[in-house]
Amino acid sequence: MSKVQSDATSSKTIADQIIVDLDDVHLRLDSGAGPVNILRGVNLQVGRGERVGVVGPSGSGKSTMMMVMAGLERPSAGRIRVAGRDLGSLNEDGLARFRRDHVGIVFQAFHLVPTMTALENVAIPLEFAGVSDAFDRARLGLEAVGLGHRIHHYPGQLSGGEQQRTALARAFVAEPALLLADEPTGNLDIDTGATIVKLLFDLAERRGTTLVLITHDPALAARCDRTVRLADGRIADDGQSSRRERVRLAGE
Ligand SMILES: Nc1ncnc2c1ncn2[C@@H]1O[C@H](COP(=O)(O)OP(=O)(O)OP(=O)(O)O)[C@@H](O)[C@H]1O
Ligand SMILES: [Mg+2]
Repeated sequence: MSKVQSDATSSKTIADQIIVDLDDVHLRLDSGAGPVNILRGVNLQVGRGERVGVVGPSGSGKSTMMMVMAGLERPSAGRIRVAGRDLGSLNEDGLARFRRDHVGIVFQAFHLVPTMTALENVAIPLEFAGVSDAFDRARLGLEAVGLGHRIHHYPGQLSGGEQQRTALARAFVAEPALLLADEPTGNLDIDTGATIVKLLFDLAERRGTTLVLITHDPALAARCDRTVRLADGRIADDGQSSRRERVRLAGE
């Protein structure tokens, strides 16, 4: 097969396996000081099973991009397809089911339910999803992040890093096809952070999970297949050319 043909074949295969597709996504919000253009024409495709690091200055729109990918924020313009669904065509119930079935999310501010213990925070979403051994799986998830001794603590009784690990356990116990995490190691010491990163990448390896990891940590970004750089509400670099260069060098 000629090189041109093989490139065409491989790009078709990749196009068939796109799990996240943001097409000219804009988000404009009104603040007290007037309207703010937060996302200004974001185009991004992520392949199934790909591990993508998202970097960029504070305020560049990383967390907002994650919110639109998860269907938690509707764009002002543009189209978002995730796991084969056009998020614009789903109503709020449809979006909630879509997230339950396909997406695990770790928020920058954790979003744990303060009146539930760590165990309940992890188990209840599984129960909603109809998992029969939700509490056993939640316990194992918390043990995996080193919190086996804190399962009956409420978020207010957990340190910042412990809350972050609880949020991570909640996101990955359901083994979602797409895991979105906003600075998953931001509050952790180096050793605990390394444990968490290993967990995420092991899960990705085992289940073919797609990872989109927002991070200020260069070591974490370097472990990903590519690094997407946001600046001022746009993709400044989608990381594809440096990825191709790495693949080329590895093949030499
Ligand atoms: N609800 C809102 N109303 C108005 N402006 C907002 C709103 N939410 C976010 N912004 C603004 O949008 C911009 C992007 O915010 P975002 O949280 O996505 O940044 P970020 O890249 O995640 O930054 P960081 O690295 O600090 O977490 C910021 O300038 C922020 O002030
Ligand atoms: Mg952020």
